[in-house]
Amino acid sequence: MSETVKLTYKDKNYEFPLIEGSEDEKGIDIKTLRAETGLITYDPGYKNTGSCKSAITFLNGEEGILRYRGYSIEDLCDKASFLEVAFLLIFGDMPTAKELDLMNSEIRKDSLVDEDLKSILKSFPKSAHPMGVLSSLTSGLIAFNPTSVDIESEEDMREAIIMLMAKFPILASWTHRKVKGLPLNYANTSLSYVENIAHMMFKLPHQDYEPSPVVVNALNKLLILHADHEQNCSTSTVRIVGSSHAGLFASVSAGISALWGPLHGGANQAVIEMLEAIKADGGDTKKYMAKAKDKNDPFRLMGFGHRVYKNFDPRARIIKKAADEVLNELGVNDPVLEIAKGLEKETLNDPYFIDRKLYPNVDFYSGIIYRALGIPTEMFTVMFALGRLPGWIAQWSEMRRNNEPIGRPRQIYTGSKHRSI
Ligand code: CMC
Repeated sequence: MSETVKLTYKDKNYEFPLIEGSEDEKGIDIKTLRAETGLITYDPGYKNTGSCKSAITFLNGEEGILRYRGYSIEDLCDKASFLEVAFLLIFGDMPTAKELDLMNSEIRKDSLVDEDLKSILKSFPKSAHPMGVLSSLTSGLIAFNPTSVDIESEEDMREAIIMLMAKFPILASWTHRKVKGLPLNYANTSLSYVENIAHMMFKLPHQDYEPSPVVVNALNKLLILHADHEQNCSTSTVRIVGSSHAGLFASVSAGISALWGPLHGGANQAVIEMLEAIKADGGDTKKYMAKAKDKNDPFRLMGFGHRVYKNFDPRARIIKKAADEVLNELGVNDPVLEIAKGLEKETLNDPYFIDRKLYPNVDFYSGIIYRALGIPTEMFTVMFALGRLPGWIAQWSEMRRNNEPIGRPRQIYTGSKHRSI
C-alpha cells in the first residue's frame, strides 16, 4: 500500500496520500483536505506548496542542481544552442538536426510583426521602462494575431509557439531601439536565433554589423541559464493566467510584468545600480553589508538569496566564470566586477549570510556581462525575459495539456465581521 500522512483534528483522524516525484521529492496530496476536514492550508508566498506536477525542470536547492528535462545546466551551457534548449524545454527532447532545421525555418518565416504595432511603440515616451513596453507589445500581439489556440490541435499549438518565439525577439529589440531613438530592425534570416537578437539590437543603419562570436557565445549561455526555473514567480503567473484559459500571448505578457519586479528578474538591474552606488560612495562594501543586516533598514543586498537555493545557485557559478572570460576577451575593465567579488567574499564569511544561507544568485553577475556586451542597464530584465520565453511557453503548454483546473487560492479572512450601515 502506498504511504500516507496522518492528521488529527478534533479527535478525528484523517489520512492523506503521499505523492513522490521522479527524483524522490515527496509531497502530501491535500486535494480533499477542505472537503474532509473543513480546513485549508495557510502558506504565504507558497513556500511549502506544490502547485502542479511538472516534467520540465528539476531543481534541488540544497545540492545546487538544475536540470532541464534531465540535462544538467552545466552540460547545456557547454554544448547546446539556445534554440536547441528552447526545443528541449517545449517539446521534451533534444531536437534532431532535421527538427532543429525545421524549427529554425518556421521561426525565420514568422519573423515579422504587423507594422501597426509600431504605433503602439511610438505612443510610449522614450523614458518608459522597456519591461513595461515589452509587456504591452506582447499583449498587443494578440490583437494582430487573434486566432484562438485549440489546445487539442498539435498544429495550432505549434503555430502559436513558433509565432511567439519568432516575434518576441523583434519586440524585445524594439524596446531597446526606442530608448536609444534608433530605427527599428527586423531579423536577418541568414543569421542564427541568437545572432539575430544581437543584430536587431545593435545593427546601425549606416554601418555594417557582424555579431562577434564573443557576444554571441555569451548571449547563448546567458539565455540558456535563464530559460526555465520551474515554478518561480513569473512562471507561476503564466500558469495561473493561462489556467483561466487566457491565451499564450496574454499569459506571457502577464509573466513579463511579474518578472519585472526587483525581487525577481528586475534584480539584475538593481544589482548594477547597487554596485554603482557602492562605487560612487567610495567602494565601502562593509557599510552596505551593515545596511543589509540592519533590520531597521529596508536595504537588501541585491543579487543575494534565493527562495529555493540554500547552498549555491549553479547558474551564478557559471555566470561568474563567464563574466571573467567575457570581460577578458573583450578587454573590458569594469571596476564594479571587483566590488562584486569583494562583496561575495565578505558575505561568504559573514554569519548573517551563512546562517540564512544567502549566496549570490543568477542576477548577481549577469548584469556585469550584459554591460560588457553593450546592453544598457534598463534592458537587463528584457534579456532575462528573452531567455525565459521558452520556459514560459513549455510551462503554459504543459498546464493546458494536463488540463489543470483554474488557479484560485483560498484565504483566511481577517477583516470586520458583518456590520450594518
Ligand atoms: N539581503 C539581506 N538579507 C536578506 C536577503 C538579502 N538579499 N535576502 C534574504 N535576506 C534575509 C531576510 O531578511 C530574512 O532574514 P530574517 O530571517 O532575519 O527575517 C531571511 O534572509 C530570509 O529571507 P526571505 O525574504 O524570507 O526569503 P525569501 O525566500 O522569501 O526571498 C528573495 C527570496 C530572493 C526574494 C530574497 O532573498 C531577496 O529579496 N533577494 C534580493 C533580491 C534578488 O536578488 N532577487 C533575485 C532572485 S534570483 C532570480 C529570480 O528569481 O529572478
